[in-house]
Amino acid sequence: MRSLISILDFTVEELDGLIATAKDIIAHPENYWDKCAHKKLATLFFEPSTRTRLSFEAAMLELGGSVIGFSEASSSSAAKGESISDTAKMISCYADIMAMRHPREGAPYVASQAASIPVINAGDGGHNHPTQTLADLLTISREKGRLNDLTIGLCGDLKYGRTVHSLIEAMARYTGIRFILISPEELRLPGYVRYNVLERNQIPYAEYRSLDEAIGQLDVLYMTRIQRERFDSHETYERLKNCYILDTQKMALAKDDMCVLHPLPRVNEISVAVDDDPRAAYFRQALNGKYMRMALILKLLEEAKDPVKASADTGDLVYGRTCTNPKCISCVEQELPQIARITDAAENIHRCIYCEQKV
Ligand code: NCD
Repeated sequence: MRSLISILDFTVEELDGLIATAKDIIAHPENYWDKCAHKKLATLFFEPSTRTRLSFEAAMLELGGSVIGFSEASSSSAAKGESISDTAKMISCYADIMAMRHPREGAPYVASQAASIPVINAGDGGHNHPTQTLADLLTISREKGRLNDLTIGLCGDLKYGRTVHSLIEAMARYTGIRFILISPEELRLPGYVRYNVLERNQIPYAEYRSLDEAIGQLDVLYMTRIQRERFDSHETYERLKNCYILDTQKMALAKDDMCVLHPLPRVNEISVAVDDDPRAAYFRQALNGKYMRMALILKLLEEAKDPVKASADTGDLVYGRTCTNPKCISCVEQELPQIARITDAAENIHRCIYCEQKV
């Protein structure tokens, strides 16, 4: 059964196909009004969300389908101690497709292993957020007219910002891409993106501490919120929370055709005055998210009609290595097998299959 857990589950050709479908939906929405008649989407949100959940709901309704689900863990059986696998099996009895957001890294992956319907990762802890990346790709394509030959700046919380991880994994597969990573030392990009994606594929990137110094070279600036809920120390969050603020003075240093993206919600990192700048694309980006989620639901439901038996993922797997990441789903669901993947045999690097941290 095909699911979307990591943006790497889709090839570049498939991503381009989703963008083409989304553009066709924008041009001819009436052709899609009944495409999901009698189909149900389940939204399982164990963590707060406004845009992602509502855009999934709007997407399914605009395809003629219906939506069931919950928006807080306390109103689901998770509050009684039900495992992710059991929840996924139950939801498979009631819906045709599910979108899951969870604070634990790897939870949607666990659901996809147990479910008999497609599972969409709508954000797992500080790990991945592939459907936000779909919104980002359509936005860059519409704003810039291309997805190749771009210098992309990512600014803010690159450590816990799951949207950043998925966006880099997607964009690194287009040609002529250069990344400029702008963050404080404490919030640098995690190893599984830095080594597995950038260094292994020799993607050019540079790191900056100052947004002023970097902004002039960018075609796209992706601003992010400092992820307060992921910090272990309140003091560290307080020290870092206003480290970058994009204002009209900084925008004056940028190219005339740079575009500014932000997954939203914003806290302080973009001043409201920037909203009137035509280069500010973040509200258009939120709308694009609905169209890409429509395209995604169509694709996964179409593929589910003819489920190819997923080939067992046994390559380079090692059993029994315990993951020590306290935010990993395997740390709370003790019955999950501890499995790691060898991502670099030369350096003997093993990464947990749920959260990708080194084990
Ligand atoms: C993002 C998320 O949930 O990771 N929001 C979203 O889905 N649009 C970004 C964030 O919360 O900062």
